[in-house]
Amino acid sequence: MEVMSALKAVAPNHPPSAADRIARHAEILSSQLRSMRDAMFPPTAQKTLRSFSSGEVARFVGVSDGYLRQLSLDGLGPVPALSGGGRRSYSLEQVNELRRFLSGHRPKEALSFLPRRREHEKLQVIAVANFKGGSAKTTSSLYLAQYLALHGYRVLAVDLDPQASLSAMFGHQPEFDIGENETLYGAIRYDGDRRSMREVIRPTYFDGIDLVPGNLELMEFEHETPRAMMQGGRGKDVFFRRVAGAIAEVEADYDVVVVDCPPQLGFLTVGALNAATAMLVTIHPQMVDVASMSQFLLMTADLMSVIEDAGGRLDLDFVRYVVTRHDPNDVPEAQIVALLRGLFADDVLAATAWKSTAIANAGLTKQSLYELDRGAVGRSAYDRALDSMNAVNGEIEGLIGKAWAR
Ligand SMILES: Nc1ncnc2c1ncn2[C@@H]1O[C@H](COP(=O)(O)OP(=O)(O)O)[C@@H](O)[C@H]1O
Ligand SMILES: [Mg+2]
Repeated sequence: MEVMSALKAVAPNHPPSAADRIARHAEILSSQLRSMRDAMFPPTAQKTLRSFSSGEVARFVGVSDGYLRQLSLDGLGPVPALSGGGRRSYSLEQVNELRRFLSGHRPKEALSFLPRRREHEKLQVIAVANFKGGSAKTTSSLYLAQYLALHGYRVLAVDLDPQASLSAMFGHQPEFDIGENETLYGAIRYDGDRRSMREVIRPTYFDGIDLVPGNLELMEFEHETPRAMMQGGRGKDVFFRRVAGAIAEVEADYDVVVVDCPPQLGFLTVGALNAATAMLVTIHPQMVDVASMSQFLLMTADLMSVIEDAGGRLDLDFVRYVVTRHDPNDVPEAQIVALLRGLFADDVLAATAWKSTAIANAGLTKQSLYELDRGAVGRSAYDRALDSMNAVNGEIEGLIGKAWAR
């Protein structure tokens, strides 16, 4: 500030400066962005999910399209909507009704129709982490949660990032829609305003996914934790067990919890790691990102051993690196992916999430490709991008199945 007044004193009548111009540009740009966002996604908009064609449903459920047609001709299972051309489509609620119907109708295959976990199979808590912003943590979390829900699992998505991009993808604008004490902070805070986990969970428009939204309030946990530690919170209330404790309250309701971690290794991330049964480290295959990942890994390892020394068990069924925003035609990227595979072998998922303008564009309107109609993008671009996301998520689904000893 002193520098500012000194500068103003020596140039009392300066003409409109570069600073003025830039400040004006910032203002123009921000108001333009606001109106573009409001046009694409007005604050009052309620998200709804499209219906799915019988071909898509057949794939999700694992039966043939012909079999689905026969069922509906026989008047069995949910009644699909019929379009003019005789095409059948199902809402996601109906897809799940169909799963329940099929698991009763063909009990030998019940597990494939209704893959939710059995009593002896433990809840999977998957932390998606990396402190590099832009490594596609949120996108990966979203696509994983939606893929699992489309395939019949009961999913809880937890937005631990104060920037709340995951909540935004579910149609919540953190500044309008998420009030005080409505994030995970409400269920892990130290003072008397603490609430039960159930009170901060909300249903979403996507059948099978519930959400704990985020907003800036989550930062409070980073500020309050050091103070609480001074006052000596121990045992099951010690800071790093709080996320796990909150999730344990609702354990019976879900098969998989997907946690979108904040882009730093603070107390929230430590809590998520302690709660996790698996960790996905997203990585954009560029040299700068790989360099920062090595720091991330070092710090994570340090933190994990501190948690273990303090008596916290880290019980990870799997840790995998997920290559994201991958351009398979880019030679330097190919070299980095090869390097990662050379170093970490099978800990790198075989499938990579391909970079696609379809995914980036869908993100602008707060949608995933699962939500868009195939026709809305151009079939080949849509199919290519979705195939790569499905391959990544299918591999993760396989790892979950393995953790359940299926
Ligand atoms: N496979 C992809 N292809 C193209 N763009 C992507 C892809 N994955 C993510 N993005 C875009 O990259 C940006 C950063 O992704 P995001 O998931 O928000 O990262 P993070 O949560 O790690 O900060 C977003 O604009 C997102 O739409
Ligand atoms: Mg994010």
